[in-house]
Amino acid sequence: MRNSDDLMQEWAALVPMWIKEMREGKNSVRKGLLDSVMLDVCGKVEGLSILDSGCGEGRFCRMLVERGAKYVLGLDLCEEMIEAATKLKSECDDYRLKNVQDLGFIENEIFDIVVSYLNQYDLQYFETNNREVFRLLKSGGKFIVANLHPIRSATGKWYRDASGKKLHVILDNYFDEGERHC
Ligand SMILES: C[S@@+](CC[C@H](N)C(=O)[O-])C[C@H]1O[C@@H](n2cnc3c(N)ncnc32)[C@H](O)[C@@H]1O
Repeated sequence: MRNSDDLMQEWAALVPMWIKEMREGKNSVRKGLLDSVMLDVCGKVEGLSILDSGCGEGRFCRMLVERGAKYVLGLDLCEEMIEAATKLKSECDDYRLKNVQDLGFIENEIFDIVVSYLNQYDLQYFETNNREVFRLLKSGGKFIVANLHPIRSATGKWYRDASGKKLHVILDNYFDEGERHC
């Protein structure tokens, strides 16, 4: 498995393209599908304290602040993402460079909601992230996770006819466990 340093180098290289795509609203998966589901599941956020685990450049944190969240803490292990998020921060959101597999610096039971928006598939020890998140949540709080479905990490290769025409995508090895690279 890639270690966190290698993964962060990959993310750092993607940051300029990533920020452009996120801030111009060009990410169709988020804009056309996941944002509305994530916001629906969050429900009313006025006055709530929320943690965004793996916040990237802070897009979803800002959406929660716009909807009245009292405090949103965004954590990410990519320095360039945290710098970009911090540049747009308000009084209600804050960003810290942290590994979400080690949340020991946060007190118990202080968040109403923890969001993990397409972050857990990057984590080698996502169970640790789960355990820590449950420690940080207040009683009755919500942990909202958007993750990649394994169908997205099956072989993904095209099955073609003799002339090379694409017929369908091969979805073999759907349940195999292990590392995946995009
Ligand atoms: C697909 S992006 C999602 C960003 C953001 N949640 C969004 O939806 O725009 C995944 C993010 O997870 C971060 N990440 C990966 N491993 C991490 C770790 N161990 N601790 C904190 N952040 C991590 C990456 O730096 C990246 O910003």
